[in-house]
Amino acid sequence: MSFFEWDNRFNIGVYEIDNQHKNLAYLVNTFFESIRKNNNIEEIKLIVNELSEYIWVHFQTEENLMRDIDYQEYATHQCEHKRFAKYIENTQEKIIKGNVPDLIELENFMRDLLVNHVLTFDQHYGLVLKEKNVRLVKTRPQLPKI
Ligand SMILES: [Fe+2]
Repeated sequence: MSFFEWDNRFNIGVYEIDNQHKNLAYLVNTFFESIRKNNNIEEIKLIVNELSEYIWVHFQTEENLMRDIDYQEYATHQCEHKRFAKYIENTQEKIIKGNVPDLIELENFMRDLLVNHVLTFDQHYGLVLKEKNVRLVKTRPQLPKI
């Protein structure tokens, strides 16, 4: 079983953000699988690099969105992002030096990011978006009818 299983509670109702969260969950699961199964430091390095890059892109997307709507809780939310980014940066540095990180500590961190943060902080700005009636939900591209 994967470390993180997606369910609908995690949807915040913004198509792009929900997709990014799903991609993030996939990367985190791949990361843990790699640590558990083969513990190959070169492979772990590649995944942590991808993960840290993706987290950066994701936080930027959210922060841009929050700035666009003059979100009142922006500073607090950004502070949380900085805390996560710093932790990932430190983990990445350790891995680059060849140290496999402590799995329990990492799992607690990822749970905090993927569960607690999404269910509280991200859900909150999702609600504000809905209240402001900001329509950012993109529709899936439709295949042309034959
Ligand atoms: Fe966030």
